[in-house]
Amino acid sequence: MVEASGATRPKRWVVGITGASGAIYGIRLIEELLQANYLVHVVVTEAGWRVLKEELGWDTSRRQAALEHRFGEAVTAGRLVFHPNADIGASIASGSFQVEGMAIVPCSMGSLASMARGISDDLLTRAADVMLKEGRKLIIVPRETPLHAIHLENMLTLARLGVRIIPAMPAFYYKPQSMDEMINFLVGKVLDSMSIEHQLFRRWGDDLT
Ligand SMILES: Cc1cc2nc3c(=O)[nH]c(=O)nc-3n(C[C@H](O)[C@H](O)[C@H](O)COP(=O)(O)O)c2cc1C
Repeated sequence: MVEASGATRPKRWVVGITGASGAIYGIRLIEELLQANYLVHVVVTEAGWRVLKEELGWDTSRRQAALEHRFGEAVTAGRLVFHPNADIGASIASGSFQVEGMAIVPCSMGSLASMARGISDDLLTRAADVMLKEGRKLIIVPRETPLHAIHLENMLTLARLGVRIIPAMPAFYYKPQSMDEMINFLVGKVLDSMSIEHQLFRRWGDDLT
């Protein structure tokens, strides 16, 4: 994208992290986007912070500091922009702010329900609603089990609006040897949906001519 000054700036993706299990997927996705030179806008729900603490042992008492601890220079250099979820006036709440799209990784059943019904009462669900109204890419990684009919209906509603739904379901055909390989597979599937090249997993048929 060319700015008024003539300089080009990196393209932007929004990453949302909600209070579903699998916070590591969202964190790894942010790392991959930064490595691919995207500017990443991040919003985490209250429950998302709770899961970061429970699952990854993050000290979430100082949130900006927690992100700096994990992503270092990317935060201080402004390549990762953190938005409080209560800040409904943030850049990403407006359709006039240009982004490639948004990925919500992982996505709780609560946030899923809000999105399916157009309830935009926090920044995360507002930013997702903006993606829908502007016809931009919206990718979600829902995580819950078992699923009841309301969960499934909400996913169907979003799928019909063009939302890419990538459930947090591991595959075994590529014979993962570690948790990292299983995480990379899911993150790689999200990057595929973003049309971003990666080497996170071995593709079926790649070893065949
Ligand atoms: C450790 C932990 C794990 C959770 N895992 C899930 C989950 O996998 N899926 C889900 O829908 N909710 C899960 N929840 C419950 C949600 O966090 C809760 O419904 C919350 O209100 C969702 O809010 P949010 O959509 O604003 O993040 C979990 C909660 C905790 C504390």
